[in-house]
Amino acid sequence: SHAPELRTALLDWYDSHARSLPWRAPPGSTARTDPYRVWLSEVMLQQTTVPHATPYFERFTARWPTVVNLAAVEDSDLMAAWAGLGYYARARNLLACARAVANDHGGVFPDTEAALLALPGVGAYTAAAVAAIAFDRPANVVDGNVERVVSRLFAVQTPLPAARPELKRLAATLVADDRPGDWAQALMDLGSTVCRPKSPLCLMCPISGFCAARAEGQPDRYPVKAAK
Ligand code: ADE
Repeated sequence: SHAPELRTALLDWYDSHARSLPWRAPPGSTARTDPYRVWLSEVMLQQTTVPHATPYFERFTARWPTVVNLAAVEDSDLMAAWAGLGYYARARNLLACARAVANDHGGVFPDTEAALLALPGVGAYTAAAVAAIAFDRPANVVDGNVERVVSRLFAVQTPLPAARPELKRLAATLVADDRPGDWAQALMDLGSTVCRPKSPLCLMCPISGFCAARAEGQPDRYPVKAAK
């Protein structure tokens, strides 16, 4: 497998091309990012884009700098602050999770994927993302961007949504113990800035030499979608 070479190429790219985002530590830094900020950003980003979520993230963290501060908010104040982000069930889950961390975990986020998954309102994606990004655990973090990158790298013919388990298995073959948080975010950044849904910028891609879809000459055929 070319996984080690591919990983090195993408992590090197991330060192110089990572987007500077308010919930991130600089790439390669050993300073641990605040799990509260990682968790909050990941919940916000599940339903909206980075540019839309960023001002909400800045407002939330200015007003509630810690998970204990957030846990103390009235439901109605949280709903008002959330307005414009949509999916209010997610805001309710957010508060349930903050209160569980504050009341049952002494205000400290648990540091394993399994323990994160046991928190109310934390699903598989969020648990993996926080474990990888905040705690540098080798969790398999797969969002829509990562699905697209992986479907192209391996030229996966199975259409979405049936392809999801296969894409997840393939993504897992690329995860390793070295820099898992940077790895997860490198895949996301590649997916959103280079390996775009339409007109992917293969000439700028650090892993185009490993990409089966690129070799076929039609990267934007992937991910294959079920015929309507
Ligand atoms: N989308 C979801 N999580 C993200 C992250 N940590 N960085 C960039 N884009 C993301």
